[in-house]
Amino acid sequence: MKPQWLSIVCCVTILVVHSNGAAVPTQDTFVVAKSEGEVTEATGVTTEEPVVPIKLTQMRVHSEVSLRYAVTAVVTHVRNPSHRSQEATFHVLLPETAFISEFVMTLNGKPYKAYVKEKGEAKKIYSEAVSQGLGAAHISAKARDSNHFTVSVNVEPNTEAMFNLTYEELLVRRIGVYNHAINLHPGALVPKMEVIVHIKESQKISVLRVPEVRTGNEIDATENDAHNAKVTIQKSNDDKEATITFTPDLEEQKRLMQVYADKVKESASMHHNWYAREEEQDSSNGVLGQFVVQYDVDRPANGEVLVNDGYFVHFFAPKDLKPLSKLVVFVLDTSSSMSGRKIEQLRAAMHSILADLHPSDYFSIVEFSSGVKVHKLSEAQEEPQSHYSWSSWDQSDAPAALVPPARASRDNVDKAQVIVSRLSANGGTNIYKALDVAVDVINKAYAKNKTDSNNTTNTIKEEAVGDDLQPIIIFLTDGDATVGETNPTRILSYITEKNSGDRKAAIYSLAFGQDADRNLLRKLSLRNEGFMRQIYEAADAALQLRNFYQQVSSPLLAHVNFAYPPDQVKPGSVTKHSFTATFAGSEVVVAGELAPAASELEPQVTAFCADDDHGRKRFEVKNKVAVKERNGYLPLERLWAYLSIKQLLDERDALDQSNSNDENSPEKRALAIALKYSFVTPLTSLVVVKPNATNAVDAESADKPGPLLAQAAPFAPAYPFVLDDVADYQVDALEEDADMGKENSYQHEDVFLQ
Ligand SMILES: *[C@@H]1O[C@H](CO)[C@@H](O)[C@H](O)[C@H]1NC(C)=O
Ligand SMILES: *[C@@H]1O[C@H](CO)[C@@H](O)[C@H](O)[C@H]1NC(C)=O
Ligand SMILES: *[C@@H]1O[C@H](CO)[C@@H](O)[C@H](O)[C@H]1NC(C)=O
Ligand SMILES: *[C@@H]1O[C@H](CO)[C@@H](O)[C@H](O)[C@H]1NC(C)=O
Ligand SMILES: *[C@@H]1O[C@H](CO)[C@@H](O)[C@H](O)[C@H]1NC(C)=O
Repeated sequence: MKPQWLSIVCCVTILVVHSNGAAVPTQDTFVVAKSEGEVTEATGVTTEEPVVPIKLTQMRVHSEVSLRYAVTAVVTHVRNPSHRSQEATFHVLLPETAFISEFVMTLNGKPYKAYVKEKGEAKKIYSEAVSQGLGAAHISAKARDSNHFTVSVNVEPNTEAMFNLTYEELLVRRIGVYNHAINLHPGALVPKMEVIVHIKESQKISVLRVPEVRTGNEIDATENDAHNAKVTIQKSNDDKEATITFTPDLEEQKRLMQVYADKVKESASMHHNWYAREEEQDSSNGVLGQFVVQYDVDRPANGEVLVNDGYFVHFFAPKDLKPLSKLVVFVLDTSSSMSGRKIEQLRAAMHSILADLHPSDYFSIVEFSSGVKVHKLSEAQEEPQSHYSWSSWDQSDAPAALVPPARASRDNVDKAQVIVSRLSANGGTNIYKALDVAVDVINKAYAKNKTDSNNTTNTIKEEAVGDDLQPIIIFLTDGDATVGETNPTRILSYITEKNSGDRKAAIYSLAFGQDADRNLLRKLSLRNEGFMRQIYEAADAALQLRNFYQQVSSPLLAHVNFAYPPDQVKPGSVTKHSFTATFAGSEVVVAGELAPAASELEPQVTAFCADDDHGRKRFEVKNKVAVKERNGYLPLERLWAYLSIKQLLDERDALDQSNSNDENSPEKRALAIALKYSFVTPLTSLVVVKPNATNAVDAESADKPGPLLAQAAPFAPAYPFVLDDVADYQVDALEEDADMGKENSYQHEDVFLQ
């Protein structure tokens, strides 16, 4: 009964669920292929004996954070104690904002290092290796959406394998803290487990929080979260360094797995959805959760400029400024798909958001489904009407009456609360018209003030808005455009063209649930000075909405411009340095390359800030730093490279058509930097070629995603997590019943770097 031969084909398939959340994932790339003679022999002898499964012996995560730039290495060791070769799977869930920078696997003492290559080239190398009979692993990632990394290899009998994955990211400051999240998904209990986060900053660390391990499906931890009692924190005397060590023993790991499983079960029963049940099964698989470190630093009043080794980084987060008054137009989707829990959550979120408005702010509520309605506050005093009886407005062709925005006085907010409590869901999704009307509301509000300010007889001052208001559009939708203009390209170009000039509003888009057209929303916001966020359909959606709103609700500066004297910096090297607005709790980071002859750097920041009378005044700060000798290690160059790639990819995504033939296109520039600094991005892939393996492999059959499509498609995470990628590794031993197919689907936190 000995098998004549055994061929092990190990294929790595990365399925990418498109960012618009469409149900059909596309297959990106992959394949680790290998086939060896000795394996056959070993297996042949031992088929009768029970096989001792492969053991995870160690997992160590070491994260080095310097100037908010985090380099994290995840190292695991496995041992195959059996007489036959077995497959080991290494899986890491990494933040969406991170770029993989290195991967090394050590099999039986021999290291195999992966190289970052341009996508097309990586595929070519892979195909050549396969045709020459060499085993090759080609791992590609779509950086923006991709959030996990998995590789499977065969581990020879009685040997060890070690995997070492390094990824890098710039931690973003949100609501006053940098949030560093490390996912602990070892897949099993680990005898030796260790997480070390070392933070080194140039200024004192003012806040340092390590909350209890989280599910990763919750919104960011706050100071109210319980502290993780199992960590040790060591701080340096000057408070500029801290080392956080977490070494959960087996008991603690079991406890955490149980906590995780319970939380998942609880949320599953809370919203009875099968996605959560799906996840529950996953949780039995050795998921400890997300280890989070949050910190903040003291900062010099005028920002901080660091210069070292030819690069500079400028951190800027002014304090003690009063927020600018704003004109905020809430554009809310009440199409029928919003019915049920979503509309309830939207109402709950709007109640607290309205309550947070400052009395000097102005606001407007624009409701849309098939048609668009700008709410009048006087409706609050009328009898409530059902959505159906509004059929006059809920027609795509009914013109929307442009009601001027209202001042956020106590009385007006109370009326708005009544209107919000009556929102109900019905009809289609007329995205184009909703945005068109929102921009009209803003343009008209300012224009009205202009003409009226010349009209001395005008007494309706309440309806006019000040020129000094910061215009903001908060656009929330849960679906694709289905009514009116539905072509995303046309919607984008009309709205972007219309929303222009001095009064250009920042458009922040909220994709509520998995069915929203994330692509459209992302482009819309990128082109209109805002950003897009995903709101997950979950029990805490109202909190997520509020949490998002907090990040943009307090603009501190408008028309912010960072200027660096041209003789002191290398032309074209400075990252984004002009911003429509900056917000309380965030931080602006600008980086660049110094001119070779520069002996000092004298940046100047100009903007407008609030004056004492809800108006605005000029704001200006200057810094001056000397360029000194190289001064130890500061990750300025990598930080610059990381930031440049992120911004160039955003630029590329904001374009109508990528003009990839142009040498100076954002795509080409991003690619050049990614290759130079070895970052795995949407434009690059990792390749490992295993030398001198035998036998060619049938790559065609290896590529087949098989039944996994069905697995991947309907999976929708129930929390503040996005499922963008499903990586899947399948090992088909061509032997009776030896199909060791493995399926993994994961979700990941959706963090956008602005
Ligand atoms: C893992 O890789 C990183 C980056 O190359 C390296 O600094 C670290 O020492 C490696 N860890 C181990 C255990 O090899
Ligand atoms: C308002 O008055 C100013 C001068 O007082 C004039 O320049 C401007 O054109 C007037 N605007 C309108 C809309 O009439
Ligand atoms: C001035 O405003 C009043 C009240 O809104 C309006 O009736 C009148 O027509 C306006 N006059 C001019 C010259 O715009
Ligand atoms: C209208 O704009 C002017 C500046 O152009 C401003 O001084 C005035 O306060 C604004 N009106 C209101 C009611 O805010
Ligand atoms: C692969 O084979 C070639 C020649 O067959 C040999 O020179 C080389 O050292 C081998 N490499 C490894 C890593 O075994």
